[in-house]
Amino acid sequence: MQVLGIETSCDETGIALYDTERGLLAHALYSQVRMHEEYGGVVPELASRDHIRRVLPLIRQVLAQAGVQLNDLSAIAYTEGPGLAGALLVGASIAASLGFALQRPTLGVHHLEGHLLAPLLEPKPPAFPFVALLVSGGHTQLMRVDGVGQYQLLGETVDDAAGEAFDKSAKLLGLGYPGGPALAQLAQAGQLGRFKLPRPMLHSGDLNFSFSGLKTAVLTTTREHQLDPAGRADLAAEVQEAITEVLAKKSIAALKQTGLTRLIVAGGVGANTRLRARLSEAVPKFGAQVFYPKLEFCTDNGAMIAFAGAMRLKHAQKNYSFGVKPRWELAELQAP
Ligand code: KG4
Ligand code: ZN
Repeated sequence: MQVLGIETSCDETGIALYDTERGLLAHALYSQVRMHEEYGGVVPELASRDHIRRVLPLIRQVLAQAGVQLNDLSAIAYTEGPGLAGALLVGASIAASLGFALQRPTLGVHHLEGHLLAPLLEPKPPAFPFVALLVSGGHTQLMRVDGVGQYQLLGETVDDAAGEAFDKSAKLLGLGYPGGPALAQLAQAGQLGRFKLPRPMLHSGDLNFSFSGLKTAVLTTTREHQLDPAGRADLAAEVQEAITEVLAKKSIAALKQTGLTRLIVAGGVGANTRLRARLSEAVPKFGAQVFYPKLEFCTDNGAMIAFAGAMRLKHAQKNYSFGVKPRWELAELQAP
């Protein structure tokens, strides 16, 4: 069975083709980062318009790369939510049109389920059950995962997401959008010890997070100190240290609480090398294993949507009614 995946929830058009026998056959991504850069963040209307421009050429490209004809497709999976309504509608309408024209089922995929299952695309995938640390631009959650669609929320952020904390701190440090990778790069040149930022909710005794206070502390620090380039790098290093320390320690606490021995990390912040280094060091000490998606499948991509769609093929619908869910809780999903 060959499933075409279409991801258009935010500022990346991602297309991929997943074969349930042979694995991922091809994938392509167009990032709108350059276009949104001058506005300092994603402009939803521009995002939707650009998805319209990119989606069909990318689908043709992926099919050609895989040597697959439209008629060979078994189903079309698309991101149904959460995300920007207009951007989601582009993927949903293309999926519904293709499904109707080819008489194939379409599957609306939860974007975070895509992220969460992305580590299963790797050659040595983790077995269920596992703990998932989902860290994206809009979400920071620890989930217990017992199977596809069996997700139990263990803890989440009470305010900003980890990615948002990276992005907002980056902005305060005068870095461009998207801030996470830029801040991580600047942090490499920084020294720890000069600044000390809070580790919010580290000792809260639960698995929740809070990152909005960190942003305020960064703002105060930038106001109190006339930061030269070296100072900005030092502060960037401390921001990264504070965020990744809390994420890593709470992930270990989640393993302890559930008694599980596998952790997966997914979502854009999962690409952060400091977070990976911390987890790769701490998790084995705890007698557990940590799994990551490939770097390119941490951030938004079509492969994770094609894969999640393939896992849900049994639930495929052939009614071609389409809609999107800009807000949608992951824990609401049911097993296929
Ligand atoms: O999962 P994602 O691509 O999109 C959402 O679904 O939100 O995550 C994007 C987030 C952004 O906040 C971005 O700054 C952050 O992931 N990010 C990083 C890194 N790469 C992406 N944060 C820290 N270090 C990175 N290397
Ligand atoms: Zn995402």
